[in-house]
Amino acid sequence: MVIVVASAVITGASSGLGKEYFNLAANNFEDIDEIWIISRSKEKLDALAQSIDNEKKRVIAVYLDLSKEESYEKLGKIFEMHKPDIRLLINNAGAGNLKSFENLTEKEAADTVKLNALGLTMMTKVCLPYMGEDSFILNVSSIGSFAPTANMSVYCATKAYVSSFSMAIAEELEEKGITVTAVCPGPMETNFFNAGNIKEGSSKKFFSLPRDNPSKIAEKSMKAMMKGKRMYIGKFYYKLYRFLSKILPNDLAISLSKL
Ligand SMILES: NC(=O)c1ccc[n+]([C@@H]2O[C@H](COP(=O)([O-])OP(=O)(O)OC[C@H]3O[C@@H](n4cnc5c(N)ncnc54)[C@H](OP(=O)(O)O)[C@@H]3O)[C@@H](O)[C@H]2O)c1
Repeated sequence: MVIVVASAVITGASSGLGKEYFNLAANNFEDIDEIWIISRSKEKLDALAQSIDNEKKRVIAVYLDLSKEESYEKLGKIFEMHKPDIRLLINNAGAGNLKSFENLTEKEAADTVKLNALGLTMMTKVCLPYMGEDSFILNVSSIGSFAPTANMSVYCATKAYVSSFSMAIAEELEEKGITVTAVCPGPMETNFFNAGNIKEGSSKKFFSLPRDNPSKIAEKSMKAMMKGKRMYIGKFYYKLYRFLSKILPNDLAISLSKL
């Protein structure tokens, strides 16, 4: 007898939006038997794993820095051994800074690209062979993906990559029964601000933008994903921003998005 164990894989599950996704997957997805949670912080992931009833779902914490190439190789080898049946992949880990390109250090610029763009791509590459019909990929992008954004140039360029990549593979994978959804939140009060050293006063415009609520974004984006939507945007304000960024001449859209 073959027992099929359905798995979810969530990156950046240790805090903010990723933690919300973990709680939803743990409590609302009856078909999921085990959840792989991935980030750098052992302590936070272990605490999360212990926070749910292990009888209901098995949680496997993997401590990886997804900005490092060797991490995908390591995860690839782990999956080769376990051969998980991945029904849900949530590529959520991400980080960025709010400052001019000149003031961004080489490490900050490189790490942002490595984690947000390369990391997300390679996670998808590593997981895809273990995914089949009726499975889902949720890629966390941002409203920053809608237009080139001065003073958050590298971060928003990586998120433009995430949205573009997601919509392209959504088209490719549709015939395999795999749904791909890009999630585009606005600013959320999470550790994102601390991690990117984003401080009040660094941009009046950024701090005056309406805040999205991570728990609402997680719940509603998962509903959109289940309905087969290719992109989820929360507030009407940000839907309008996307619309404007598509119809305005480039120069105007870029001056509108400047932070
Ligand atoms: N907050 C916002 O304003 C906002 C707006 C739009 C989009 N987003 C996007 O939403 C997603 C979640 O961010 P959040 O707001 O929830 O921020 P957060 O609280 O800082 O969470 C980021 C998560 O990513 C993980 N992570 C960061 N660097 C990593 C690395 N090198 N390797 C592996 N994991 C790493 C962190 O875990 P460890 O520290 O344990 O590694 C953490 O679990 C990100 O993709 C972000 O770009 C955020």
